[in-house]
Amino acid sequence: MTSVQRIVLVGFMGAGKSTVARLVAERLGWNYVDLDQEIERRAGMSVPEIFRLRGEAEFRRLERDATTLLAACTSTVIAAGGGWMIQPGLADVLRRGALLVWLRVSPDVVIERLAHEVEGRPLLRGGDRAGRVAELLAEREVSYARADVAVSTDGLTADEVADGVERAVRSWTS
Ligand code: S3P
Repeated sequence: MTSVQRIVLVGFMGAGKSTVARLVAERLGWNYVDLDQEIERRAGMSVPEIFRLRGEAEFRRLERDATTLLAACTSTVIAAGGGWMIQPGLADVLRRGALLVWLRVSPDVVIERLAHEVEGRPLLRGGDRAGRVAELLAEREVSYARADVAVSTDGLTADEVADGVERAVRSWTS
């Protein structure tokens, strides 16, 4: 029996990580942490502002710092940003006692879900959004696949995805 002290939701932008993490935390009576919100709180500015004023490299540094602060947290569901798994070694900071769950999403669904939310996603701004999503997703899939389990999200409500995460936790611990 493997005990799970924290759950980390990873995957591409638009996969529903924040919404589902909040739902799973509520159901388990656990804490909920959104890494991007933590970064914004600590930096005193939004993610798009950090990208614009300080650049992506600085955002990634803040992302590493925020992760390190969570290294000892327990009974916590963490929503990571879409690039979190891509940073070398970062997943290892939280991996001990954790279940890393990849919320899978297809490029078409990303475009549909983020149609009105690209302002908050600096990496998806500009032309040929579909091409950018397809390219980034293809590039990142190998990193997301290093999660412990994968849960599909296409065509599912946040509640249904949360059911999938709960099932994954149960089968991991049984
Ligand atoms: C990023 C995803 C964003 C945020 C930042 C970078 C990425 O989080 O961390 O804009 O590299 O994919 P969401 O996945 O919550 O949109």
